[in-house]
Amino acid sequence: MSKESKHRLNKEGLRKLAGIFTYILPYKWTFGVGLAFLLFSSSMFMVFPYISGKLIDIASGSDQWLVNNLWQAALILFGVLLFQSIVSFFRVVLFARVTENAMANIRTDLYQKMVLLPMSFFDRNRVGDLVSRISNDVSLVQSAMSTTLAELIRQIIVLVVGVIVIFFVTPSLSLFMIGTFPVIVIIAFVFGKFIRRLSKKTQEQLSESSIVVEETIQSIQSVKSFTSEAFEVGRYTKSMKGVVKTALMVANFRAAFISFIIFAIFGAIVGIMWYGASLVQSGAMTVGDLISFILYTTFIGASIAGLGDLFGQLQKAVGASERILEVLAEQGEMELTETDNIRLSGDIVFDNVHFEYPTRTEMPVLKGINLHIENGQKAALVGHSGAGKSTIAQLLMRFYEVSSGQIRIGDTGLTDLDLALLRKNVGIVPQEVILFGGTIEENIRYGKPEATKEEIITAAKKANAYRFIESFPEGFETMVGERGVKLSGGQRQRIAIARAVLKNPSILILDEATSALDAESEKLVQEALHDLMEGRTTLIIAHRLSTIKSCDTIYVLEEGQVKESGSHTDLIERQGAYKNFVSLQMAED
Ligand SMILES: Nc1ncnc2c1ncn2[C@@H]1O[C@H](COP(=O)(O)OP(=O)(O)O)[C@@H](O)[C@H]1O
Ligand SMILES: [Mg+2]
Repeated sequence: MSKESKHRLNKEGLRKLAGIFTYILPYKWTFGVGLAFLLFSSSMFMVFPYISGKLIDIASGSDQWLVNNLWQAALILFGVLLFQSIVSFFRVVLFARVTENAMANIRTDLYQKMVLLPMSFFDRNRVGDLVSRISNDVSLVQSAMSTTLAELIRQIIVLVVGVIVIFFVTPSLSLFMIGTFPVIVIIAFVFGKFIRRLSKKTQEQLSESSIVVEETIQSIQSVKSFTSEAFEVGRYTKSMKGVVKTALMVANFRAAFISFIIFAIFGAIVGIMWYGASLVQSGAMTVGDLISFILYTTFIGASIAGLGDLFGQLQKAVGASERILEVLAEQGEMELTETDNIRLSGDIVFDNVHFEYPTRTEMPVLKGINLHIENGQKAALVGHSGAGKSTIAQLLMRFYEVSSGQIRIGDTGLTDLDLALLRKNVGIVPQEVILFGGTIEENIRYGKPEATKEEIITAAKKANAYRFIESFPEGFETMVGERGVKLSGGQRQRIAIARAVLKNPSILILDEATSALDAESEKLVQEALHDLMEGRTTLIIAHRLSTIKSCDTIYVLEEGQVKESGSHTDLIERQGAYKNFVSLQMAED
């Protein structure tokens, strides 16, 4: 779908907004009552100019009305106002109750959908964009459903009721006004539409500049280490200049639009006052009627001026709801249900697996991989950076689907396994461990939510993490993550190992788990890993010879295929790619 057709307020757009309205359905009665209050208070409001006129006529003695003294008329006016304010109070409260609940439901659904979406979705979408859908877009829809919708209904009622009333009270003056009326409406409409299109450009530019902020803050360390602060500030300043330029151009048009509205509306009022005054002079109309007429005309004018903006906001809401529905329509990779804790066998087969990433389909990463790792064995993947080692690990966890070939656990194809069950049986210790904001205990518990404190302590001990955790003043309660204590790479690694110990998977993947560590922490991590590997199938991706040597089978990856496989001694004897790799390693150490 092209960008242009995206935010248009046509049938299609309204249907999208209607899709969001399904979230209102559970609160339809509250919403209905709020709507009735709104209709009622808006209609009631239209009585106001009428009674005001009557008040003047009673004063000048030129008319007889329901009441014929001033204080009674004033009392009625006050009564109308009081009623207005009470009804408006409930209208706002009721609408808030509906929209706040409905929006929380949309947000929860969106969030739930997002976390259940496959990895390929996250490759395609920026983090900031997804966050903005949950926060900004939902807020936009919310304001459309509460204030914009209410305003729209109110303005339309003002417009329709206003025109009807003045036609009844003073037909000839109304005809005069109607002569100028449609012209203003049409010009305002076309003009408003033009401005809205321009405003969208400002919005887009603004969100582009937020991307700069997001990117630099996310990698603030790199920015600082390259001392590219000035460069980034320059980049941001430049995009800000662009925003200002467009915004000012839009502002010029908007200013012209507003002054046009003022001139046209007030010009019309002046003309009407002149014509009305001459009607009063000739005795064809009372002063009171003229006053209510002018009040009505002002109301009508204001509502026309407001409608343009309201349509703009509705359009934005259509765009926002489209972005929300887009995510909701995506296919999640699994349901949010509990699965049984069945222990899978650790027998892994890769049978002629071909794969390319969905975002880079033109570049095949795996071109016919064959592996067989028997239950309880340790296998190593060796190959240069970018050879596809991590990709194999990701496929094993079914983060992506293979393009052809098959992966089997035991005798079952990966696609026939329950996804949650599969992932519960696979544990991974990656190179770069990212901890969640929270305590160390919570982070370890992530491996097994129902674990007791005893189990956590045991796991920490097995992971060689207990000593350093206890050395912190707050021990297991130490806050880590973005707003907590920064742990070293080796410490984070050992937390990840403790997690894996708790998870107790039948298949363990170590993806360069020790390669970013210094010798001291490597030793501690290595020891912990040694215990962790006991009794499970382990896939080790590593470049340290010491780690690989003792593996049952070593697979050497090259150009998306397994070039060689066998035990360390077998492969050394073959004098092939592995031998080269080993010599390189020896030279390095
Ligand atoms: N999420 C991704 N989307 C697109 N391409 C990717 C993605 N992850 C890795 N690649 C590419 O796939 C190839 C293999 O990557 P990877 O499996 O990470 O290599 P290794 O772990 O052996 O260093 C690389 O060329 C890399 O650029
Ligand atoms: Mg890798």
